[in-house]
Amino acid sequence: MHRFHYINGQLHCEEVPVREIVRKAGTPLYLYSYNTLLDHYRQIEKAFSPVKALICYAMKANGNLAVLRTLAKAGAGFDVVSGGELRKALQAGANPRKIVYASVGKKTGEIEAAVKAGILFFNVESEQELEQINAVCARLKRRQQVSLRLNPNVDPHTHAFITTGHKASKFGMDLKTVRRLLASHRKYPWLILGGLHVHIGSQILEARPFREAIRKALGVVAFARRKGIPMNTLNIGGGLGIIYNKEEPQTPADYAQAVLPLLKRSRVKVILEPGRYIAGNSGILLTRVLYLKESHGHRFAIVDAGMNDLIRPSLYGAYHRIQPVLQPKQGGKTIATDVVGPVCESGDFLGKNRKLPPLKAGDLLAVMSAGAYGYVMSSNYNARPRPAEVMVRGRQWKIIRRRETFQDLTRGETLPAFLR
Ligand code: LLP
Repeated sequence: MHRFHYINGQLHCEEVPVREIVRKAGTPLYLYSYNTLLDHYRQIEKAFSPVKALICYAMKANGNLAVLRTLAKAGAGFDVVSGGELRKALQAGANPRKIVYASVGKKTGEIEAAVKAGILFFNVESEQELEQINAVCARLKRRQQVSLRLNPNVDPHTHAFITTGHKASKFGMDLKTVRRLLASHRKYPWLILGGLHVHIGSQILEARPFREAIRKALGVVAFARRKGIPMNTLNIGGGLGIIYNKEEPQTPADYAQAVLPLLKRSRVKVILEPGRYIAGNSGILLTRVLYLKESHGHRFAIVDAGMNDLIRPSLYGAYHRIQPVLQPKQGGKTIATDVVGPVCESGDFLGKNRKLPPLKAGDLLAVMSAGAYGYVMSSNYNARPRPAEVMVRGRQWKIIRRRETFQDLTRGETLPAFLR
């Protein structure tokens, strides 16, 4: 459920006509619904309330400060993956005691900053990283909780680029390594091995692979406890899938129902790291049709947003619904159209072979479900300034990131003296 809907034939975000926003803020434009973000967060919080789970929003999905602040105020924690995300989360008002930090490549400075900030857990991805965190903590004389990240070797049946929990993936450690590290926990006197972490991938539609991963993880928790380690937390990662097109994903309630019995039995504190579920359907990308053309029997709508603005279709072949901002007539004629951007790459498209009403230059299109892994993955490729971002709450709306300017494009560049 989200709050982008037609009223009198015009697409609205919450109570504001999208056209009104575009008139002032231009295109391409990312538009987020405050209340959808909150709804989705609360659905997960409610589903897992029987174990009072800590929901650490995976801010890699959408890291705008206003989005972070919305969730921080609702009580969310944050899953961060870099020193930059840590700083942004803190700037947005995150409680450091609700921050978990995952990444296969944490740099020493990043580890130091996180220890000093007093984060809840590092999710540790290798033995060398564990040693490094221990060394930093020794230097700072700070004790720190860590979770070992188990690679449980399960197949979540999702896109190859977003599966993380099978054997060939760079993420986490195999069972043998995790057990060995737990058995040698005394080598890390500054660390409390209080948690275990599993995250098997993203856009997962069914509970089965989650259950399988959790079952394996709980076996490790039991092993740790037998070794005298007071392991009391299981972080079950993110990965809940959403509806982009015709998917029928499990709801948070279905997911909870499938895994809560396992979790309750083992009396662990539960952490979740959902990103896409919270942000995905809370945002859309608005774009304007520049030109139409036919070529070799193909109809193209060339729009002002491209792969640099939303890379998911090009990178993963991901499907995003595309709909006109002015609702087409019921039963009206549609034409199979490729919606493509201005970037000089054949892979630059937002949607192929879409049934759209006859479009004309100037029409506005909404690319749906673009709130997660949209703006955060945008770039300046082809020297294209990045879009603006707007948040709507009820009748109010505000630009929460200004559109980049041409000055922004050369910010940080210098001409060396030998070229003057
Ligand atoms: N926790 C960890 C350790 C992760 O690696 C991820 C996502 C999440 C949580 C959040 O997963 P989510 O709930 O959003 O599925 N750019 C890709 C998705 C990459 C996901 C990376 N890790 C896409 O656009 O589909």
